[in-house]
Amino acid sequence: MRDEALAAVAAAGDLEALREVKVAHTGDRSPLALANREIGALPPHAKADAGKRVGQARGAVNKALAARQAELEAERDARVLVEEAVDVTLPYDRVPAGARHPITTLSERIEDVFVAMGYEVAEGPEVEAEWFNFDALNFPPDHPAREMQDTFFVQGAKGRDGAGSGVVLRTHTSPVQVRSMLERKPPIYVICPGRTYRTDELDATHTPVFSQVELLAIDEGLTMADLKGTLDHMVTALFGEGMSTRLRPNFFPFTEPSAEMDMQCYVCRGASVGNPDRPCRTCSSEGWIELGGCGMVNPRVLIACGVDPEKYSGFAFGFGIERMLMFRHNVEDMRDMVEGDVRFTRPFGMEI
Ligand code: DAH
Repeated sequence: MRDEALAAVAAAGDLEALREVKVAHTGDRSPLALANREIGALPPHAKADAGKRVGQARGAVNKALAARQAELEAERDARVLVEEAVDVTLPYDRVPAGARHPITTLSERIEDVFVAMGYEVAEGPEVEAEWFNFDALNFPPDHPAREMQDTFFVQGAKGRDGAGSGVVLRTHTSPVQVRSMLERKPPIYVICPGRTYRTDELDATHTPVFSQVELLAIDEGLTMADLKGTLDHMVTALFGEGMSTRLRPNFFPFTEPSAEMDMQCYVCRGASVGNPDRPCRTCSSEGWIELGGCGMVNPRVLIACGVDPEKYSGFAFGFGIERMLMFRHNVEDMRDMVEGDVRFTRPFGMEI
């Protein structure tokens, strides 16, 4: 019986076969277990001898089983290491790399330009008190300028008599200027990126939810020359050496004087102007691209925000990021920026 068991153990080719051999030769019904059970029925003088022999046989079988088990496990482990090896150097393509939204990365780039000059990033709420969005910025209660920006009212539009203050989805990032002045003491240098809202229909050139960047500088002796230099530095940092800006007179209630700011067309750099042979689609052969609004902070706004206009002056500007993304990257339809299709976002990559 022992020899048979040992032969079966040696013949077991894998762990499954060995498990069967173990049941057959050491289990309750195995010949050796039965022999062991019968020892009790033997006459006393035969018991010791039989007990010793059966015990030795069982010991030998168990030892062989354990040894074969260890051997087969080692074989299996060696095989699995080869068969299931993972080559961690293989190119990785199962999970496509994601990308950040270009509005976010462009907005961060703009912030970086100003943080490098010592500006601080400031933020304000998107659901804003009408007072911050309009009144403090010198929009009179019945001034048509208030309707100039089609406003989403969240709570009670302010009465025409000016009483009370409604709650709006901010129509621009300019209310962050007000918050920044109320929260800080001059000198103040802040850059304020954020989401803004107007009741526009979504189409190729409009979106009701869009993004702006606002800048505010308040210090002693700031002039329009500082504003111009800051704008020129920004477009150079974002679009390359040699870029410049120009200012055209305009009106905003919160700046005086106010201007519309244009940047040189970074594609044709003016070469398309009056040159029908070299038309430029980016600037419609005008040589300039409109960026946004700017000006010297209106003293009335300084007063509303607790800043002494006798001592301090300031400049500000604001512009839309979607528009800049459109001409910086030739995006033709604004809807691509809001639809969330990864095929739009992916080519912009993971710039951090
Ligand atoms: N808030 C203005 C808008 O959304 C843009 C603007 C104009 C911002 C002039 C400014 C500024 O800071 O000085 O149309």
